[in-house]
Amino acid sequence: MAPLQGERILLGVSGGIAAYKAAEVLRRLRDAGAQVRVVMTASALHFVGPTTFQALSGHPVRSSLWDEAAEAAMGHIELARWTTRILIAPATANTIARLAQGRANDLLSTLCLASEAPLLVAPAMNRVMWAHPATQANVATLVARGVELLGPAEGDQACGEVGAGRLLDPDRIVAALVASTLPPRLAGKRVLVSAGPTFEDIDPVRFIGNRSSGKMGFAVAAAARAMGAQVTLVAGPVTLPTPAGVRRIDVRRAAQMRAAVLAELPAHDVYLGAAAVADYAPAETLPQKIKKSGETLTIVLQRTADILADVAAHPQRPGLVVGFAAETQDMEAYARDKLHRKGLDLIAANDVGRAGQGFECDDNALSVFWREGRLDIAHGPKSRVARDLMQLVADRLEASR
Ligand code: CTP
Repeated sequence: MAPLQGERILLGVSGGIAAYKAAEVLRRLRDAGAQVRVVMTASALHFVGPTTFQALSGHPVRSSLWDEAAEAAMGHIELARWTTRILIAPATANTIARLAQGRANDLLSTLCLASEAPLLVAPAMNRVMWAHPATQANVATLVARGVELLGPAEGDQACGEVGAGRLLDPDRIVAALVASTLPPRLAGKRVLVSAGPTFEDIDPVRFIGNRSSGKMGFAVAAAARAMGAQVTLVAGPVTLPTPAGVRRIDVRRAAQMRAAVLAELPAHDVYLGAAAVADYAPAETLPQKIKKSGETLTIVLQRTADILADVAAHPQRPGLVVGFAAETQDMEAYARDKLHRKGLDLIAANDVGRAGQGFECDDNALSVFWREGRLDIAHGPKSRVARDLMQLVADRLEASR
């Protein structure tokens, strides 16, 4: 099922240069199955025309409280009752200030005041405006009131400056919105996730790594957080942003990952080992760069400790231990063998031999095995696959109670 099926989103677009990105947000919301109605502020109309939003949403765009024809079709109070979630993207400093004050001086602010639907706000503005104490105080007021803040992101800004204030990536906005619709089935649970590759240093400039991007593990951490869990993410060297609300510990080598995971273990209810841990590491890391000399070079590698097996055998073993298996053949047999051999509760296997899923991809498909069962999670974005996996984790936790 599309993740936002049944959701009726009111997309508020306020007047900043990032208003053009709202069209992409709208597109993604529709792809995710949501119905969307768009309300633009007067200043947003200076940046983008309403026709794009009308075409993408399939409904006329509203921008004024005083539009008689629109009011006759669906009055603003009716619109405020219709929506299941209000998303303002981009939210300017002015819009945030008006929301904080509870003003109702245009259609969008009036709708926010007149609706009981959850409000999600994705700010976008110049970095100095964002950092200004007035804006920060307004944001703090909104957050204290239960408004969900999405971003802003850091990076190059349209004004030529660099810093915090960019609109969060449309994919991440929609992912956060999807997350906000999930029932909090993991509330009160503590989930520990390992993700990414490990880099095993040969000398100061070279290492042995692997192709894991960390995307699956990060998606699992985000899904667990979205379902209400307290999440700790032990991450190998990856270039991914930390999912909102997740505590992250960065590591490089397998030995460091093991130490971090075992140190965190006692307080956790679930461990998901999504990292692609090196099975072998150089027996020693040389202090100086190796100079080329002979035609061949031999590096002695040594087996690393199996973190997952150690977690499963630990005296303070979490109630549920989940492993991952990347297979290219005989998936079920190999995965079930790992399940038994390592003493796991669940194993999520993916067929990395298939194009368009697994390593370095945004998509995946999983077959999850446990002693008495199996669940196939269909091919799709890692965010959705991770949510399906975490629903199964919640099922298994409930079943084990
Ligand atoms: N794992 C681990 N520590 C290691 C190696 C692997 O915790 N040193 C975990 C991974 O996080 C993953 C699972 O074990 O959850 C993968 O199992 P593994 O036996 O390493 O799988 P493959 O490398 O796919 O197995 P094989 O060598 O049998 O192909």
